[in-house]
Amino acid sequence: MENVLYVSASVRKFHPTQQHHMSISRMLGETFIDEFKQQYNQAEVIHRDLSLTPPMFIDEAFIAAAFARGELSEQQRTVLAQSDRLIDEVIKADIIVLSSPMYNYGMPAVLKAWFDLVIRVDKTFSFDLARGDQPLEPILSGKKVVLLASWGEFDFKKGEAKYEFNHLSRHIEQLSPYLGADAFYEIASEYQEFGDERHRASKQQALADIKRLAQKLAAAK
Ligand SMILES: Cc1cc2nc3c(=O)[nH]c(=O)nc-3n(C[C@H](O)[C@H](O)[C@H](O)COP(=O)(O)O)c2cc1C
Repeated sequence: MENVLYVSASVRKFHPTQQHHMSISRMLGETFIDEFKQQYNQAEVIHRDLSLTPPMFIDEAFIAAAFARGELSEQQRTVLAQSDRLIDEVIKADIIVLSSPMYNYGMPAVLKAWFDLVIRVDKTFSFDLARGDQPLEPILSGKKVVLLASWGEFDFKKGEAKYEFNHLSRHIEQLSPYLGADAFYEIASEYQEFGDERHRASKQQALADIKRLAQKLAAAK
């Protein structure tokens, strides 16, 4: 059984039969999920829609509870409950698909809030000063993280001229080991703001690449 956690973050909606402006990153995400399920119909997919149900922002009480030692109080357990639920979804997943827009050269606030809840000490990473200058270590392993992104400009891919502006992909790739990822894949549609032929071509290329990746990951299960 292959479990897929599909996390979506765009504030825009996607409806396959409506042609007016819709979320491209959600379209990419749904294309991946549809193709994966077509190739492997036993896949169990959990959809965590961060726009529909935004995660809480962490606060002082959360940090204190997350780092507390020993028996937790009822109040501390309540503070950590949402994080516990989201971490359970990550733990169960073999593949984590993140569909995300680029907002202000980075990830949407709801996605950052989700990462702040799921990357938690003694749950998804351990902290030990005996390791010297690298005290953090991921706890989970064996997963694959797939980032499916859309942005309005272009040349943000690895090796391209404006890659250093792209704090979305680089940040998520850097965080993915803390979700338990041994492998990180990324496919993006570019040029949304131009709405021209380059945009259509980039979107079509992304959709074709996503279908191929879904087939490859389904075949490797
Ligand atoms: C608030 C906001 C900020 C954005 N910031 C950027 C940006 O920094 N760079 C960029 O290339 N595109 C930017 N865009 C364009 C989006 O990345 C683009 O519209 C993308 O398709 C959004 O994803 P979605 O279609 O899934 O909603 C921004 C759009 C919005 C609404």
